[in-house]
Amino acid sequence: MRLGADRVRVRVPATSANLGPGFDALGLALALHDDVEVRALGSPDVVVDVTGEGAGEVPDDERHLVVQALRAGLDHAGAPQSGLHLVCHNRIPHGRGLGSSAAAVVAGLAAARGLVAEPQALSDDVLLALATELEGHPDNAAPAILGGATLAWGGTGSVRAVPLDVHPDVAPVVVIPPTTLSTKAARGVLPPTVPHADAAQQAGRAALLVEALGRRPELLLDATVDTLHQEYRRSVMPHSLALVDALRSAGVAAVVSGAGPTVLALARRLEGGGTDADEAIAAAFGGAMGGWRVLPLAVAHGGVEIVAAANG
Ligand code: HSE
Repeated sequence: MRLGADRVRVRVPATSANLGPGFDALGLALALHDDVEVRALGSPDVVVDVTGEGAGEVPDDERHLVVQALRAGLDHAGAPQSGLHLVCHNRIPHGRGLGSSAAAVVAGLAAARGLVAEPQALSDDVLLALATELEGHPDNAAPAILGGATLAWGGTGSVRAVPLDVHPDVAPVVVIPPTTLSTKAARGVLPPTVPHADAAQQAGRAALLVEALGRRPELLLDATVDTLHQEYRRSVMPHSLALVDALRSAGVAAVVSGAGPTVLALARRLEGGGTDADEAIAAAFGGAMGGWRVLPLAVAHGGVEIVAAANG
């Protein structure tokens, strides 16, 4: 297969995985986007320019995640490889549990879709399978591809995902610490087994969360009780868990976003503006933010998007 275009621009959303009890399964796309421009070059050079998050920190060669994913996408479509010039405008913070790696991988795969002459070779199902193979977290990849809330299941080679309803009153707010934490470190503190009673409770809460998110936001506090990962992770993100505790005591459905350390509040929109989490968040910090950022982010109802593709 040949290339159908030599320039493409894609836009991919941040994502929050788990949402409390949906460990490794549920995810939500958030309206904070990375933009990636790709130009296929006539030479074998690889040039990566990054502005914003990760600038000066991520590799600027073949090791760059967008490049790796783009190459995997071209290979899968049977399209030729070429030199590449990437310009990444990054807004999704790195190492914070907001799906920056999944976004990079999904952006690279979508860029490949935009470049090849037969984009149907890189359908959403194929993107999800390839992203899971490359990055390992379908709970981030699925909402980055499909938008909105998603439920992913199955593993490498058999992964699937469906979209879930999100009630219009649900107003996510993320509270981002100044510190980073790798997913590897956050998974390293999880136990190999959990008590049966905890697993049983988790199943009920995850099922309730689907109902609460889509139709009954007043149940979100009960629906976001987690017994599989957050408490085990307290030692590697004590401040995040302290904030989750404070917000939940104030009635806010707060959880750790993905593998942390960002905190996600599944707040509710108030009629006069703002959310029902705003006061509790302000009270928890008492005016001293210490480098933490509070970002109200709408649900991103669309997933990764090819904004433009062109030749010449
Ligand atoms: N479900 C994964 C975890 C998310 O919590 O480890 C990784 O982004």
